[in-house]
Parts: sequence; C-alpha cells; structure tokens
Amino acid sequence: MQDRVNELRRLLHEHNHRYHVLDDPIISDAEYDTLMTELRELEAEHPELVTTDSPTQRVGATPTTAFAKVRHKEPMLSLANAFDVGELRAWYGRVRKLLGAEGSVPISFVVEPKIDGLAMAITYRAGQFQGAATRGDGMTGEDVTANIRTVGSIPLALRLVDDRPVPRVIEVRGEVYMRTADFEHLNEMQAATGGKLFANPRNAAAGSLRQLDSRITAGRPLRFFSYAVGLIEGVILRSQWDTLQYLRALGFAVNPDIRRLDDFEAVIDYCAAWMSRRSELPYEVDGVVIKVDRFDQQAELGVVAHDPRWAIAFKFPAREATTTLRAITLNVGRTGRINPNAELDPVVIGGVTVAHATLHNEEYIVGRDIRIDDRVTVKRAGDVIPKVVGPLIAARTGTEQPWHMPSTCPSCAEPIQRDPDEADYYCVNARCPAQLVRRVEHWVSKAALDIVGIGEEQARLFVEKGLITDVADLYLLTPEHFTEQAGYGTKKVANILNGIAAAKDRPLERLLTGLGIRSVGSSVAELLVQHYYVIEALMMATDSDLNAIMGIGPHTATTIIEFFGHEPNRALIHKLQRVGVRTANAAPVVVPTAGALAGKTFVLTGSLPTLTREQATELISQQGGTVTGTVSKKTDYLVVGDSPGGSKYTKAQQLGIPQLDEAALRQLVGT
Ligand code: IVH
Repeated sequence: MQDRVNELRRLLHEHNHRYHVLDDPIISDAEYDTLMTELRELEAEHPELVTTDSPTQRVGATPTTAFAKVRHKEPMLSLANAFDVGELRAWYGRVRKLLGAEGSVPISFVVEPKIDGLAMAITYRAGQFQGAATRGDGMTGEDVTANIRTVGSIPLALRLVDDRPVPRVIEVRGEVYMRTADFEHLNEMQAATGGKLFANPRNAAAGSLRQLDSRITAGRPLRFFSYAVGLIEGVILRSQWDTLQYLRALGFAVNPDIRRLDDFEAVIDYCAAWMSRRSELPYEVDGVVIKVDRFDQQAELGVVAHDPRWAIAFKFPAREATTTLRAITLNVGRTGRINPNAELDPVVIGGVTVAHATLHNEEYIVGRDIRIDDRVTVKRAGDVIPKVVGPLIAARTGTEQPWHMPSTCPSCAEPIQRDPDEADYYCVNARCPAQLVRRVEHWVSKAALDIVGIGEEQARLFVEKGLITDVADLYLLTPEHFTEQAGYGTKKVANILNGIAAAKDRPLERLLTGLGIRSVGSSVAELLVQHYYVIEALMMATDSDLNAIMGIGPHTATTIIEFFGHEPNRALIHKLQRVGVRTANAAPVVVPTAGALAGKTFVLTGSLPTLTREQATELISQQGGTVTGTVSKKTDYLVVGDSPGGSKYTKAQQLGIPQLDEAALRQLVGT
C-alpha cells in the first residue's frame, strides 16, 4: 500500500514537472487524472498516509481570512536601472574599477530577461516545500503559502541532484507571472462571467495571488521562473550561472533565454536584441537584468542602500502610461462600423506622444466603466494602435461622466444599428459619406486595386466635393473635375487619372478584396476565384454552393450572399463593368486535388518552433490542404504552436478537433 502510494507520488511529480516546467508531457491529461484519482482514493482510505508534499495537497480546502506577515531571513533587494546604453557602460566602468579589473581580472556576466511579474521567496526544508512569501517592502512580505502551492511549475518536493546533497534549507527566489495569452484568455472569461478585469498580466498575477481562497488561485494560469537563491544551508553555490543550473536540476523552471557572456559588448547586443524582439516572448518583459556572475566578485562589490552594485536592470521603454481621457469621438469604418476613440491629454509612451487611442466598442467602454475625464492607463505595444486599458478608479473626483453610444451616425446622422450577436454598432446607410471615404481608401489600397496617386486626402476631396458617389465614379473622373481645385495641377491630375486607368485590369481576386465584403480579405477572395472566375457566377452562388468550398465558413458564406443580394451592390458591379473595370479572370486557377492533405482543412495557432505561419501554410497547400483562420466543424486539424490563441484552442477542444504540433504536421506531410 505505502509502496503504491509512493510510486503514484513519484509518477505524479515527474509528470507534473514534465508538463509545467519542461513543457514536454509524455502522458495525456486523462492518464494524469487517472493516477491522481487513484492516489486520492488511497489517501482517503488511509488518511495517515497523507503528507504535505503529496500532489493531492496543492489545493487546501479552507480559505484564510488574511495573509500573515513574514520577515525575510535575508532582505529581498531591488535593482538600480539603466535607461540607455550610456548608463549601462557607466555601470560597467564602476564595476571594473571597484574590482580593480581595469587591468586583467576577467568579469563574466549573466543576462536574464526581466519578467514583469511578482518576486517570490519559496522555502524548502529537507527538500520539502515549506512556505512562500511575497517580496513586500524587501524586509517583510506576506505569507502566500497556500496559493503558491497551487502553482504547477513550483515543485512540492525538490528533485535530487546527483553529486550534491539536498540542502537542509533553501530559499528559492524568482518571479511569479502570467503569459500574455493566458492573461487575455483569463480576462475574456472574467468579462463573460462579470468578474473583475485586470489591467495587465502583472496585475492579474498579483490579483490571483491575493486570493484568500486558494481554490481560486488554482484556477489561474500562474507560472514561475526561478533566478536566485536567498538563504541556503548545506550546499555551496559559487556563481549566478552555477545557481541557475542548480535550480533547473532541482526541478524549477529557469528562463531558457538566460546567457553567460564574457564580453560586455555582447551584453549590450543582448539587451538591444531583446529590446527589439520583446514582443516575440510569450510573456511581458520590462528589461534585461545583468548580474556579475562570480559570487566572490559580487561580495566584493557589495550593496548600496537596497541595490546591489553587482547587478543592474537595463529598462526597455515603457509601454504604458496614465493620462486623462478628455473625450470619446466616433469614426465610421468602411463597413459602417462605428469605432469609438479616446481623445487623451498627450502623453509620451516609450518615446512617442500618444493623444488618441482605441476604445474598441461600447461594451468595452461600459464593461470597464471608462468615463469622460477619467485618469486612464494607456498601452502602446510595438506597432499596435494604442489602446485605453482601463480607468484608475482610485483617482476619481466624482466629476467623471459615464458615456453611451449615441443613436445616430456621426457622419450622416442616420440611425445606427447593432447586431444582437455582436458588440459593434453599424451605420447601415449606403450613402454615408464617411463610409464612402473609407471604401475608396480600401479600394485603392495595395491589397485591393492598388491605384497609385490616391490616398486619404484625395478620397476625402472626391467625396466632399461630390465628385464621386461610389468607387465606380473614380473611373469617370476627367481633368475638368479638378479645374477649381487648389494644389491639383495638370501633372498631378494626369498622374491620378493615369493611375486609375492603369488599375482597370487587375485580377478578379483584387476586385473582390476591394469590394470590402465583411470577412472577405485577400485569402478568401483567392479561394473564391478558384471556384468562380467570372463575377456573375459568384453573384449567383447559393449558400450551400459557398459552404461546400473548403475554407469558407457559414458566416462568410452568409455575408457574401447578403452582399450580392443587396440591389445597390449589384448595381455597383454592373456600373464597374460599364466603366471598363475587369470583373473576370482569364482562366480558372487550378486547384490542387492530389497530395497527402487533399481535402483537409487546417487552422494554425501559436508560433511553431521552426516554421513561420507562411511556411506552414505553404507546406499544407503544396500537399493540397487548405488553411483557414477560424475553427469550425469543418476543420480537420488544429496545428498548435507556442502560446496558442485562447479562442481557437478552446473551440477546437470543444469540437474534439485533433491537434498537431509541428513535428506531427511534418510527419503527416512526409517531410
Ligand atoms: S534579481 C538583487 N532577476 O525585478 C537581485 N529580478 O527590479 C534582485 N525581476 O524584485 C532581483 N526578473 O521582481 C532579478 N531575472 C531577474 C528578474 C528580476 C524580474 C524583478 C524582481 C525584482 C525586480 C527588481
């Protein structure tokens, strides 16, 4: 009996480690659950066999009422910051000087991504998980033992390291964090259940750890990277690099992107590389931590105030800032969608001044209780449009005003409508000038008819002067239309008119893209022309014809039918034909039907280890398979990479769609 219990615990610890730390499980979740159930049953029959490190003991049943204070045995230090390479070099200069290394003493550095989470100290005695405390003010933290116990990547029992004794006591330090995709998924679920929304992954991790009921924490996707050892008895560690290897051997997750570098120029390169590649990481980082590797050198350098002189944080530009939201304005998209935008007191985020940010839709604003004159958090990540994350409720003065969607279009003043299944409002007036400007911009864009010489300024001019009432009118423009127009000389006008004339003969898929039918982008347009190479045929297609096309979902089929069923749209197609725009392709594009994946539909999610999205798509289509963007009953396989998108993944699981990783995909293809 005791033997079986021990064996089950050993297996469960092992599989837990493979799953949470190595990301390399070798049994299914169901098999894991079976082992767990067996252990639970044995422990229920023999309560005297239950131990605190048993895998069944991750979640305690009784919520606490408050977090006890814990005094750290050794203070948890903070880090001085360097905001540019100059400050980094200055730090290196001081380190060299203090170590008397201007001559020949070599200094190695360990560089680690600086995860934006919460520092944690976790104590083990005789190899057993003992307790965990937050950093707090560095001297005193809070006891979050019950909650930390639920984090799968934190071992309950240390693994043995062959040539070293188990430390009598070891305090492992590191960062509790949440991956970006997990955070977004959590917020979606919170929104669906009316729960609290978190501003960023760091707040979500903090909020999850501050739960008095550890069963709630257990349901949160928390992870842990270890990066330091506080108190340790019975084992001697000599360097940061040694420590990281040791922590990994004990069963902790250690960041895979850590490096030991002997040359300070390489340290600078490392910082620069991750600064530009930070969005490739599945979690948020706010910088790079640089540590002098050798502990004897660290000791020589010492600590000033709370910052060790042997380490520094190279900080990346901020991605968030707070400012005041002054107004909410509306802009009308080409599909008529009404997009609310925030007008902000200008604020510099990561070197760029931000004065406008997206607010998505009414539900987003009302759900987050964002009000006019609120202090708000604004986020700007990479090239993504800045967005308002949420209000700072504590900063309210009482004068802030809630906002609601008006009932009419800001451009044409016609009533706006909301599809009950969607969060967005639409202006459905076909003659709405704002929509026409956007439609022209889209029509002339590179992915569509690619007309050179026309941009937003010209689109606005044509619409506001009444020179055009639809995109077909572009082809009827003559030099006379421009005679009274300042800034439009003969040469410029000739350029515009030539550009328009030259684009009459683009392939049908470009025209279909240009029409701006909802859910019909370039790839769907290409799929359509493989089946319908003259537009009349597509206009006559039925719902079931379109649904039969691999890669076209029921929603897209319906929007296409509705589009061509709408008389003004049919009239537009005929008008385009009259003005000489090509609406047919010369010959049908051959659809590959042979190949290992013929007739199979794939959806990709997450980033694959070696293939880019384009390469994976090409691999699949070369073998006759189709790649689509959304999971449906017609999907044959979901190809899953790192940090998969929550909704595709969940949907595929609900529908029982088989999942492949890159290796399995390659096997299927036979490469
Ligand atoms: S070392 C003296 N290493 O950054 C050493 N900290 O600004 C102090 N952090 O409180 C910590 N990743 O929450 C260290 N690889 C890393 C880190 C890291 C994130 C956080 C940690 C710490 C804060 C200091």
